[in-house]
Amino acid sequence: MRSGLDNVVAAETVLSHVDGEAGRLIIRGSDLEDLAGHATFEEATVLLWDGVVPDAPTAELAAPLGHARARAFDRFRPLKNETRGLSAVEAMRLLLSSMPDGKRAEEPVALLAAAGVAAAFATRVSQGLEPIAPNPAMSHAADVLRMIRDKAGDAEEVRAFETYLVAVIDHGLNASTFTARVVASTAAGLPSAVVAALCALKGPLHGGAPGPVLDMLDAIGTLGNARAWLIDAIKRGERLMGFGHRVYRVRDPRANVLKVAVAKLKGRSNRIAFAEGVEAAALEALKELKSDRRLDTNVEFYTALLLEALDIPRAAFTPVFTLARTAGWIAHVREQEANGRLIRPQSRYVGSWPVQAA
Ligand code: ACO
Repeated sequence: MRSGLDNVVAAETVLSHVDGEAGRLIIRGSDLEDLAGHATFEEATVLLWDGVVPDAPTAELAAPLGHARARAFDRFRPLKNETRGLSAVEAMRLLLSSMPDGKRAEEPVALLAAAGVAAAFATRVSQGLEPIAPNPAMSHAADVLRMIRDKAGDAEEVRAFETYLVAVIDHGLNASTFTARVVASTAAGLPSAVVAALCALKGPLHGGAPGPVLDMLDAIGTLGNARAWLIDAIKRGERLMGFGHRVYRVRDPRANVLKVAVAKLKGRSNRIAFAEGVEAAALEALKELKSDRRLDTNVEFYTALLLEALDIPRAAFTPVFTLARTAGWIAHVREQEANGRLIRPQSRYVGSWPVQAA
């Protein structure tokens, strides 16, 4: 048995490939570096879905997505009181759970739009603020950013946010995508598969790490403190958030793409210099204290800095990751439904056996 299904191949996919030794991510035949920062979120989604999601537009996605955002907001508005008192990601889970597993609601565009609206709606309500209605004429990235902050982004901010959404759109058979495929393999329906995937993503070992990355930077406070703080944390048995990966044995290529994107935003140079210093100290400490592992920076370290630079509250980090990855989950669900069998592995029984009667 391989604990954690390490290195087990459990699906064939045309969607994305993660090369953990080379630090390379390929999405539908393109290197990540040629996609993130170049394609819009809509273009990257169309590329990902092409020929895999038969019930989706093959060219222009922005307009149908915009109209679907407006419909999603109407659906979620009556649920506002139900989401009070929940964290943003819990509220998002509740909102997406309201999508029925029927033919109409299974429409991929409706679900992708709903994820964007739910992320913003849930973030606002969790902060005691009024949700902002979508503007169907805007791009998905621009509108979601505006709905979260109640302030439209300038061109640089929208580009940075879009770079992030594209950079995390799909990533092989990670824990949440595997979850989506398991649920899809039972024919439960698209919304159910996506809600299940969100539940898997929300944990701090997967998509819940960027908020804690900023908590770590806050706790370290100054560069002079970094080495001692990090060594103490590792010695206490804690994991450094934003470092390590199940597949990458070198630096996660998404970390570089996001670092470049955040560096293009105005007024971030001091924060980036501090983060780079902490990153270098963390890599050194991990090399010294975890010499049997090859641990490097993962996507979440610079995700945290980028989302912080965009004034997105920490509580929204996992919902924002979810809205981007929903495009990938939808493609995996349709791919699984088309090609896959029921996913049903075996367990090895190591419990006690009934005592034989004498
Ligand atoms: N800090 C300190 N030690 C670590 C770290 C880390 N970030 N990552 C791995 N290790 C060490 C630990 O000793 C661990 O052993 P333990 O289980 O006895 O504590 C051992 O390495 C495990 O190494 P791997 O087999 O390489 O890691 P695994 O595949 O089990 O875990 C994971 C990968 C969950 C991402 C891990 O590196 C981690 O917890 N990182 C911090 C959280 C994080 O940044 N998550 C975001 C990942 S990216 C994403 O999902 C979008």
